[in-house]
Amino acid sequence: MELPIYLIGYMGAGKTTVGRLLAEKLGWAFVDLDDAFAEINGITVEDFIRRYGIEAFRRREKDCVEKLSELPIQRVIYATGGGYPCWEDNMECLKELGTSIYLRWNNRHLAHRIELSGTEHRPILRNRHGQELLEFVEWQMSGREEFYKQADIIIDAPLGELAEDNDEQIAQHLYQLIKDNR
Ligand code: S3P
Repeated sequence: MELPIYLIGYMGAGKTTVGRLLAEKLGWAFVDLDDAFAEINGITVEDFIRRYGIEAFRRREKDCVEKLSELPIQRVIYATGGGYPCWEDNMECLKELGTSIYLRWNNRHLAHRIELSGTEHRPILRNRHGQELLEFVEWQMSGREEFYKQADIIIDAPLGELAEDNDEQIAQHLYQLIKDNR
């Protein structure tokens, strides 16, 4: 498996939580690209989007991923921002840089998980709840899925009711997969 690993997927898919757990299991580094963006640019993603808009954010986000990819470390799990793979040639870039893994959930579960983690810190979803949130997720996913689906590996989240240990289960599954493919 080519390294580093990039976790991709919609907001609420667990990229950060799974990424952190997985990196811990492997003893590798973990980088959340939204946090790295904030560190590099001196402003949070939320504030940046609010101040300069989504187009400017995408451009900076792209620079940020490219800059970090120049670091001479391979054993890293990156959690990408949810919209990153769906912009320009970003999906191709990821596939060239390492292995991309799509954490796939159905839209209903995504909306539910987003609701549980809160929408206040998510500029794109702010103030959307319940049915309105679900419809928005469905609408955005209908445009994004074709990009996410290009990932090297797709991991389907459990289909049943949501459970507290879903992220841990996914991290464990990925851990096995990586160990078996090294
Ligand atoms: C975004 C997802 C966010 C963040 C920004 C835009 C998106 O990251 O990059 O608010 O367009 O899906 P997370 O997926 O880590 O929440």
